[in-house]
Amino acid sequence: MDWNQPEILPLSKFKEMRHTSPVHFLDQGEVWDLYRYEDVKEAFTNYAIFSSQGSENPKEPIDSSILRQDPPKHRQLRMLVSQAFTPRVIEGLAPKITSITHALLDEAEQARSIDALTSLASPLPITVIAEMLGVSIEDREQFRSWSDALVGTDHEAYLKAQQEMTDYFNTIIEERRREPQDDLITNLVQARVEGESLSEIELIGFCILLLVAGNETTTNLINSSLLCIDSLPDVREALLADRSLIPGTLEEVFRYCSPVQQMFREVKQDVELSGQVLRAGQFVRMWIGSANHDETIFDQPDQFHMHRSPNPHLGLGSGIHYCLGAQLARLESRIMLEAILERFPHFHRDREIPLERTDSQMMFALKRLPIHLY
Ligand code: HEM
Repeated sequence: MDWNQPEILPLSKFKEMRHTSPVHFLDQGEVWDLYRYEDVKEAFTNYAIFSSQGSENPKEPIDSSILRQDPPKHRQLRMLVSQAFTPRVIEGLAPKITSITHALLDEAEQARSIDALTSLASPLPITVIAEMLGVSIEDREQFRSWSDALVGTDHEAYLKAQQEMTDYFNTIIEERRREPQDDLITNLVQARVEGESLSEIELIGFCILLLVAGNETTTNLINSSLLCIDSLPDVREALLADRSLIPGTLEEVFRYCSPVQQMFREVKQDVELSGQVLRAGQFVRMWIGSANHDETIFDQPDQFHMHRSPNPHLGLGSGIHYCLGAQLARLESRIMLEAILERFPHFHRDREIPLERTDSQMMFALKRLPIHLY
């Protein structure tokens, strides 16, 4: 990859840590960094020891969301929300996603030179989730700024966004209770498992989670896919000759530049991992980005192999919290890549403008991706 420098993707640092200090203690905040695949996978799957549980009495909606629950509560929430994410529901969105994608490309075609991030990769997932939730498309810009604030580093902005989203979704939930519509919020309001429904704060938490979990992540996957195709002429040629190679290529993008680079868990019981003793009450930071380049699992991990099989990457997590939106993210990204390759097979990146990552360690996100459409 011509852009593969440490400040963009710290592969050499990950490799060094996997070999010298794979379970590495950071005094500040009592956090252990996990770099090896097996350790990261263990933390994802062994929920009895590595807990996702947020506060016992959550005051912020996002703390009551499915992402911050352990069983049995997690199981119940997952059953409720899975009803709205069945493979049939997701496949049914394909025509809508295709038409949104082509409308974005029509607009981009006028300009020819665009920022793929702001013109394509970001608006697609936001528009799709807004459609699914049944909220006004006019609020798309507002969604984007809330979404940015929730994954950013400014705590004030984070709290403000959460309050504004709570007020916003409260109003919509009330409207859907009075007048049900054919949309995700209505489905969530009506969903029942063993007679139980989602509480107010859980409903709001889930809406907020969908906006955050579904937007920034898919945006970055699409952006990174374009970056990889632009850098690898062989990959572009193969995809142009055979579109059925797109899904496998996307899996390799999930692995190579994982959109979510890290997740956290709290240690519930003392446990030994790669020779270190982790104490209850401490935290682990699971470096997905490093696990996905672990040479004990992946041959030539720092090479991009579009035909890699098997490809057991952890880019979408593993275990009970495995990404609920995985099929949606794959569908949106596949449709976008198919459309770009069909309409602008020779698109290329403007190399005059240096690549820059955002300051988030959690996400692999570029500040911009200027491309010319040909
Ligand atoms: C490229 C796109 C995406 C990536 C890389 C991604 C990544 C992840 C990861 C790593 C997790 C596991 C979190 C954990 O174990 O703590 C997760 C969970 C989740 N994701 Fe995604 N995600 C993507 C797209 C989406 C989309 C499009 C949606 C929905 C619209 C979504 C909704 C969720 C939800 C609700 C969870 C929590 C599931 C649970 O706790 O049971 N994600 N995602």
